[in-house]
Amino acid sequence: MTRPRSILHNFTRREFLSVSGASAFSLANLRLAQGAPTSQTSPAPGAQTTPPFSKDFLWGAATSAYQIEGAAREDGKGLSVWDEFVRKPGKIRDGQTGDVACDFCHRYAEDVAHMGEMGLTAFRFSISWPRVLPGGTGAVNQKGLDFYSRLVDALLAAGIAPVATLFHWDTPLALHHRGGWLTRDMPRWFADYAVVIARALSDRVTYWLTINEPRSFIGGAYVTGVQAPGEKRARAEYMRAAHITFLAHGRAVQAIRANAHQPAQIGYACDVSPSLPATDSAVDAAAARESTFASPLDHFSGAHWWRENAWWLDPVFLGRYPDAALTALGKDAPEILPGDMETIRQPLDFLGANIYGGWLVRASANGEFEEVHFPAGFPLTAFGWQITPDAMYWGPKWLHERYKMPIFITENGCSSRDSVSLDGKVHDPQRIDFTARYLLALAQASAEGVPLRGYLHWSLLDNFEWQEGYTQRFGMIFVDFPTRRRIPKDSAHWYASMIKSNGASLPRLPAVAGLP
Ligand code: FCB
Repeated sequence: MTRPRSILHNFTRREFLSVSGASAFSLANLRLAQGAPTSQTSPAPGAQTTPPFSKDFLWGAATSAYQIEGAAREDGKGLSVWDEFVRKPGKIRDGQTGDVACDFCHRYAEDVAHMGEMGLTAFRFSISWPRVLPGGTGAVNQKGLDFYSRLVDALLAAGIAPVATLFHWDTPLALHHRGGWLTRDMPRWFADYAVVIARALSDRVTYWLTINEPRSFIGGAYVTGVQAPGEKRARAEYMRAAHITFLAHGRAVQAIRANAHQPAQIGYACDVSPSLPATDSAVDAAAARESTFASPLDHFSGAHWWRENAWWLDPVFLGRYPDAALTALGKDAPEILPGDMETIRQPLDFLGANIYGGWLVRASANGEFEEVHFPAGFPLTAFGWQITPDAMYWGPKWLHERYKMPIFITENGCSSRDSVSLDGKVHDPQRIDFTARYLLALAQASAEGVPLRGYLHWSLLDNFEWQEGYTQRFGMIFVDFPTRRRIPKDSAHWYASMIKSNGASLPRLPAVAGLP
């Protein structure tokens, strides 16, 4: 990687300390790979004494429409790009579809009851745009809207704050055929849809997310083409789609604010993969911070698509694209019309971050940064994703430092190979350990002054994991897909007691020899 300047350039002592983790927190405590036996950090004796999170911290779970709802062709719902994509041979593992998924549309009352038993105080769901507007624009499908209204009522009756996402990847097929995210009509269509939703639900919904993971969405839809609508576009086109997605976000924020029946709390759910210092040294921390927001040229190719962060956050929170990114893109940079950046940069109430993990980085000999490969045998989830709890410390810390926004963890979780045991229960110790480690890291960010709104675990239910079909179980509640029967896993019970203590039941960090 080449970068224009040294990472220590202009580093003040305060900045240096802020990235060096100059606190009692030692990242080594959270790393499975560094030899701390897992039993030391599993939720066991020696819990913290004071809750590490604020009193109004929201504890919840996250889901999305296509992944759980089912009822794909019921009650007047229109089709989305996913309804079509899943029917293309070879696109989804085992040829599965989300036609029925968790059958949430019919079983939401049972699921809300489970949420109540878990003590959740927030539930993130997304609204299926074509369920409400079958053609994407125009006539409203009242039955579709009524479903969300009933869901919101049920949540509120259970004392659970609804967190509604307007778009979690299920683009109305009709709009896709009219140009979709590649046309500048899309932001207007999206704003019209946001008006319908805000008018119908904002008397009861206060938390809103506009768009889920624009980076993953554009990446899957138009760069690698492994997700609906499954297109591999030229770079200039997919970067234009990204710009149009930002415009749609901005227009939706305006629409919600203008039509909400009460003050709205609006954010945007961005997937963030921070670079993580490979060691506890301050120079590596500085290198990782620099790398987290850097935009080298290769970040805009399919191979490194998942490393770029600043492109997806700077326009929304700072009103500009990173200069290095525009330079790297050259003629492939999107056309920016007068007023675009003002539309994109709407005042928001929090920064929603979906954080699953990060990459290891260290300072290189020439004062820049370089990636460090994960050591052999590094811990992985069932999906093969590295388990890097530090991401939940450095991510929120650096996001807050750069954007000065309260942070809401809108997704975090892991898939594991869960099954029903002979005792009829579902034991998922990996998920408990994973979640405890990430929450400890989040607690440390909180202790160091990062304002946090809440934590939403992905996911409530095992569900349709996009191109992986039903093979990746992310839920705290097991779903037996042939029958759709639910069984709360051990993690659901663990999460319930952790929520009750507002995090105080999390284990203390173990002491690691040689560290403060
Ligand atoms: C996120 C998506 C979510 C789910 C999880 C595992 O990137 O937002 O829909 O697929 O990953």
